Amino acid sequence: MKRVILGLALLAGVVFAAWSGPARTALAQGGEQGDDPTAPYQGAAVYAEFCQSCHGDQGQGRGEGPAFRAIAFDPETAHDVIADGLDSDPRDGVAMPPFAQLSGGLLTEHQIEALLAYMVTWGTGETPPLPMPRLDAIIADYVPDEGEELDAGAQIYATSCYGCHGRSGQGRVPPNFPPLLLTNNALTLVRDGTESPYMPAFGAEHGGPLDDAALEALNAYLASWTISEPLEDPSSEGYGTLVILMGVAAIVTVGGVIMARENAA
Ligand code: HEC
Ligand code: HEC
Repeated sequence: MKRVILGLALLAGVVFAAWSGPARTALAQGGEQGDDPTAPYQGAAVYAEFCQSCHGDQGQGRGEGPAFRAIAFDPETAHDVIADGLDSDPRDGVAMPPFAQLSGGLLTEHQIEALLAYMVTWGTGETPPLPMPRLDAIIADYVPDEGEELDAGAQIYATSCYGCHGRSGQGRVPPNFPPLLLTNNALTLVRDGTESPYMPAFGAEHGGPLDDAALEALNAYLASWTISEPLEDPSSEGYGTLVILMGVAAIVTVGGVIMARENAA
């Protein structure tokens, strides 16, 4: 009897986990399309995570460098540029990364539509404020009370780096959203840029948004990663592993119960 109850409890757990995974994803991506009044807010969250690093908080640009340019918003073409990227001048060494999942990016069609719903609010006086992307998680897990410089660095990471390199730099979708390898010259690469048109030079001397103080704060924050052990992100891999483990446990238990019954019969 105990085994049956245990089996049922595990089964319920599996069903719940299987249901809540997609449901949570659907929630994060926002309900239905169309004239959903929450679409601009969903779009603001997507914009905060993936776009403000280069284009500023309302598409006004963040510096003189070609990667940090203002967005000339044209709803007709914006969708395709966001989905598939754009490199109109290969000689300038910077480009707009393709963001659609179908093009090796991270965004669903729904999220791109939400982005457009957010961007049309620019200049209307009804633009929703940008949330700080996952800053709570970024700071809470790694730098509890470590001082102002780390907090400042974590904020810079959240708004300028997190979108492409993910939490604690484990990457999101290589090769355009790759893991961040912390080597001795990492800060130099952040300041001066890399070969990739998608990793622009963030240093102010190259027309980027980060001055020396900002780079120092970022450096202090990145250095803190080697002190604290990175935690699993419960919403991704860790969660999936849990679901699989629970599924296996349930199958084993249910199988055991059935076999025990057949033996008894
Ligand atoms: C690595 C920096 C970078 C990031 C991050 C980035 N962009 Fe861009 N974006 C660019 C560059 C550079 C161009 C110009 C590309 C060209 O003309 O070759 C551009 C062009 C555009 C354009 C075309 C219109 C115009 O003004 O030229 C739109 C629309 C746009 N970006 C929207 C977005 C949105 C929305 C996001 C977030 C999903 C985003 N960008 C993220 C660098 C970036
Ligand atoms: C638009 C996406 C994007 C953004 C935003 C971005 N990076 Fe990168 N980053 C890349 C890509 C792509 C590469 C790989 C470059 C290559 O292979 O040449 C890279 C490479 C790097 C490297 C070189 C070492 C390595 O791991 O390959 C460092 C260090 C780095 N990024 C740190 C940062 C930091 C810190 C920020 C925030 C200030 C940031 N990046 C923002 C896309 C991005």
